[in-house]
Amino acid sequence: MRRKTLTQYLIEQQREFNNIPAELRLLIEVVARACKSISHAVSKGALGGVLGSAGSENVQGEVQKKLDVISNEILLEANEWGGHLAAMASEEMEDVFHIPNRYPKGEYLMMFDPLDGSSNIDVNVSIGTIFSVLRCPDNVTEATEQDFLQPGTQQVAAGYAVYGPQTVLVLTTGHGVHCFTLDREMGSWVLTQENMRIPEDTKEFAINASNSRHWYPPVQRYVGEMLDGKDGVRGKDFNMRWIASMVADVHRILNRGGVFMYPADKREPDKPGKLRLMYEANPMAMIVEQAGGAATNGKQRILDVQPTKLHERVAVFLGSKNEVERVTRYHADA
Ligand code: AHG
Ligand code: MN
Ligand code: MN
Repeated sequence: MRRKTLTQYLIEQQREFNNIPAELRLLIEVVARACKSISHAVSKGALGGVLGSAGSENVQGEVQKKLDVISNEILLEANEWGGHLAAMASEEMEDVFHIPNRYPKGEYLMMFDPLDGSSNIDVNVSIGTIFSVLRCPDNVTEATEQDFLQPGTQQVAAGYAVYGPQTVLVLTTGHGVHCFTLDREMGSWVLTQENMRIPEDTKEFAINASNSRHWYPPVQRYVGEMLDGKDGVRGKDFNMRWIASMVADVHRILNRGGVFMYPADKREPDKPGKLRLMYEANPMAMIVEQAGGAATNGKQRILDVQPTKLHERVAVFLGSKNEVERVTRYHADA
């Protein structure tokens, strides 16, 4: 069977449905190329001198790993000169990155989590990259943070790469979710799964259970009922998985269902959760919804949340529809 490459797929989509304009196609191809470089750096590990801490902190006060910084630079360098972007923003940069004046500017804004799952880098567990694409508002010549603060419903594309046993790129432009596998010999991304669908029901959940004593009652109730298994109100046994790389947990859920949770908790009552809305939760929520799943912050659809700042945090419940609806209902009941 002759397989389709990412380039072929994007051109065909444009021809058949007129839904991927040339500038967006360029953007996606450039991001895919950057992910290829990151995958290459990741796979070198100790041999490439890429492991360990960079000796700096990001705006969230987290210690940056060398690969956090390397991946951020790869994405910036790949994307700054092509003329497809008006500006970029990243987990690893406090402020908006402006396209240098020597390059033309384009009509899109991009945000990314260059390296997701940083705690897994040095122990050789799957990690990834997440990105979200918005349109730059009309007549904006120098995009500011304000221009990025659009709800997730406005995303024109979202995707993630997983650097795991295989390197894959999962992509949506609002017409289903498709998975491409990196063919290292050929250097190309090959379409390997079309129209991924998340089963509506599941017997698998993902949460960092070490925080259970800090959870609020709706999460206590929901997880408690799953832990009660066959003997409890749910009447069935559940299995648990927690990789601590959102990309890898979400990828499992896209493939076989499940529910992923990173709730707000009592440790820091002022914080609405750990994960970042703009470059973690929103792109993943778009992908999950496009695959037939659901994503809420416990109260409302994540994609409807109006962001108020670039590095805003949000509680996340996403995955199999019936489970996300249930845990959201428990929040409403409380
Ligand atoms: P990042 O490495 O980009 O900071 O993101 C890590 C996130 C997410 O990928 C993962 O699900 C979660 O943090 C893990 O958190 P815990 O260490 O609290 O389990
Ligand atoms: Mn992350
Ligand atoms: Mn990160």
